[in-house]
Amino acid sequence: VVLPLHPRASACGKVILVGEHAVVHGYPAVAAGLPGGVELTAEALPDPRAPIELRIGEWELDLELTATSEHPVARACLEVLGHCDGPVAGWRIRGRSALPARAGLGSSAALTVALARLALGPGAADADVVEASLAGERVFHGRPSGIDSEVAARGGVLEFARGRSVQAIVLGAPLRLAIVPSGIPRSTADQIARVQAQLARLPVAGAAALSCLGAAVRESRAALEAGDPLRLGALMDLAHGVLGGLGASSAELDRLCARARAAGALGAKLTGAGGGGCIVALLPPDRETALEPAAPGSPAPFTVEVAP
Ligand code: MEV
Repeated sequence: VVLPLHPRASACGKVILVGEHAVVHGYPAVAAGLPGGVELTAEALPDPRAPIELRIGEWELDLELTATSEHPVARACLEVLGHCDGPVAGWRIRGRSALPARAGLGSSAALTVALARLALGPGAADADVVEASLAGERVFHGRPSGIDSEVAARGGVLEFARGRSVQAIVLGAPLRLAIVPSGIPRSTADQIARVQAQLARLPVAGAAALSCLGAAVRESRAALEAGDPLRLGALMDLAHGVLGGLGASSAELDRLCARARAAGALGAKLTGAGGGGCIVALLPPDRETALEPAAPGSPAPFTVEVAP
């Protein structure tokens, strides 16, 4: 039986605070949900056999979901709907997002989680929504760790370890983050492969680097719980350096991090797969710190306040 879609659903974006890439290799990572990830609405088309229409203006997406489409978004969405035993024709889906797409902020996970919720309904368990989302995420990213989908579904600040655990972190103090988009697109799958190649070249030091990122995640969780921004900022700087050594950064991301620190950030690092996308900077709790766009005309930086 093909069930109808629910009228609306939403999901968060995400920002990884510490632990990206290492999380692919079984280490934990901490991430925070970003509000405004994606909001979808669905209405039935007059012709139940007409292809599903998907339009998200902010992401310049205007697609028909057909079995022969080669567009990765169309393929991923059909995978999610198929996984949920949802309809594969006869609906118009409209979306809105406050986040840039393909910038390391979890836009694809937000889309696949919200779509799974359209199919499974508001009462569906997070674990089922995440599993359906992953069917789509694999189309985009190969073998993602699943952290993006978990944060998109649950929001808040989480510690995640692949196949082992997802735990909510209770903050000791509010977090003030600035996200600075580089405006440079990148592919998560390519970035994972780049880090993989570096790990193969450096079997001993590479493994030590991953374990250092794992230790940085444990200390970051303690710093988040204690409300200790100086320690968290230092850990973010450390993580950025280690990720650079593993091949995940770029000259532009290094420049943006250095500039954020010079402007008063307590720490700054690439977030997500790196190579392009965004940096995340930890802002001091007690001082206004304004960050400039990466370059004239590139997307504006924005601030996120995460309350305890
Ligand atoms: C992508 O947001 C984060 C990576 O660790 C990939 C993943 O966890 O699937 C680079």
